[in-house]
Amino acid sequence: MKILFLGEIVGKAGLMAVKSMLKPVVRDNGVDLVIANAEGVTSGFGLGVQHAMTLFKYGIDILTGGEKIFYKLEMQEFINRKDRILRPANYPEAAPGRGLKYLNVGTQKVCVLNLLGMADMQTVHLANPFIIADNLMDKILAETPFVLVVFHASMTAEKGTMGYLLDGRASAVIGTHCKVMSADSRILEHGTAFISDNGRCGSFMSVGGFLPENEIYKMTYGTFRRSFECFDDNRLQGVIVTLGDDGRAQAIEPVNMKCTDKSVEESDR
Ligand SMILES: [Fe+2]
Repeated sequence: MKILFLGEIVGKAGLMAVKSMLKPVVRDNGVDLVIANAEGVTSGFGLGVQHAMTLFKYGIDILTGGEKIFYKLEMQEFINRKDRILRPANYPEAAPGRGLKYLNVGTQKVCVLNLLGMADMQTVHLANPFIIADNLMDKILAETPFVLVVFHASMTAEKGTMGYLLDGRASAVIGTHCKVMSADSRILEHGTAFISDNGRCGSFMSVGGFLPENEIYKMTYGTFRRSFECFDDNRLQGVIVTLGDDGRAQAIEPVNMKCTDKSVEESDR
């Protein structure tokens, strides 16, 4: 089984990269399941309903979130009706949506689990993701050995620790949130595919997909300035994980492709 984990989709540039490149990448690599972090699709902050539906149409199977998943208020209601959009499982149980989803991929049952880290998350403070993950594993493994964990966290040490906690139990622990692809993809000792951060779908020549000018102002003066999407050097980034029939990882390969479709640039700049 091959799973493509796309990096955070940032704004219209990210949407365009997915629209123009996802189908060929899936076809050329024999991908069976596509999972993407989608909390920054709508202008970089949150996920609107229309954008979510557009991404399903483009071929993404599961959309995951993080600290920004509820920034668009309409998502607080919509997520209850669309079980292929996940919010971190360490939100309070009564919060809208769910953090875990079982689905069939071919003849196999797969579990996708979304978690949020603790370090440097200034707007959301949730339950300890290590305790939540550890407690959930027995229940999940009774259902399937195909366990795909998307850990939305800021600190590489936190993400690495989750990888080792779940090594041999999860098929993959994939870090998101930083939007910068890390060079540490590997298969851990007991068969778990791991990367600290799987990058971004969106502008590469930018600050996290945003125009540098306003980010410089914010960092220099410590005052608010709106972040604007950037379209320079648009990329599709992520990793493709290959799993054996036992649910253990056989390979993890980075994807880092330039998007040559300029139509979004012409219409949105
Ligand atoms: Fe995030």
